[in-house]
Amino acid sequence: MALRNVLIRDDDNETLRKKSREITEINEKILTLIEDMKETMYAQNGVGLAAPQVGVLKRLIVIDIGDGPIVLINPVIVYQKGSQKEMEGCLSVPGVWGIVERPTHVIVRGTTPEGEEVEVEGEGLLAVALCHEIDHLNGTLYTDKVIEYVDQDGAAKGGK
Ligand code: NI
Repeated sequence: MALRNVLIRDDDNETLRKKSREITEINEKILTLIEDMKETMYAQNGVGLAAPQVGVLKRLIVIDIGDGPIVLINPVIVYQKGSQKEMEGCLSVPGVWGIVERPTHVIVRGTTPEGEEVEVEGEGLLAVALCHEIDHLNGTLYTDKVIEYVDQDGAAKGGK
């Protein structure tokens, strides 16, 4: 396993803006990428990481909101409901936080590293994390959707 370099928006906005491709075969390279992405996420105290953030334009996300790692290959939101406005940050946009509107509840279909098709239900923070990471696969950053930027403690900074 190895730490991967996380792309920063201000250094490499181009890669972060590209649409990632579906993964057609879960080979050794993909399994290594998954382990590296988990290690990188934990090393940077992130709650999620998408493959394009480490420069790999493939549809793969890792998330851990504190309940253990979730790895999804080719994730697709198949159901969503509700609305919540919560604070988000991103390892690719360091030192910045903002309020974003997301569904309160999502169901995401995807494939596990073992090749099993699964559905992951997410509410609250997990719904936010799933939407945020899947957005990365389509070249979207949460800053595109920010309602208001805030300090790390959530205090409003005003403006956009
Ligand atoms: Ni992010």
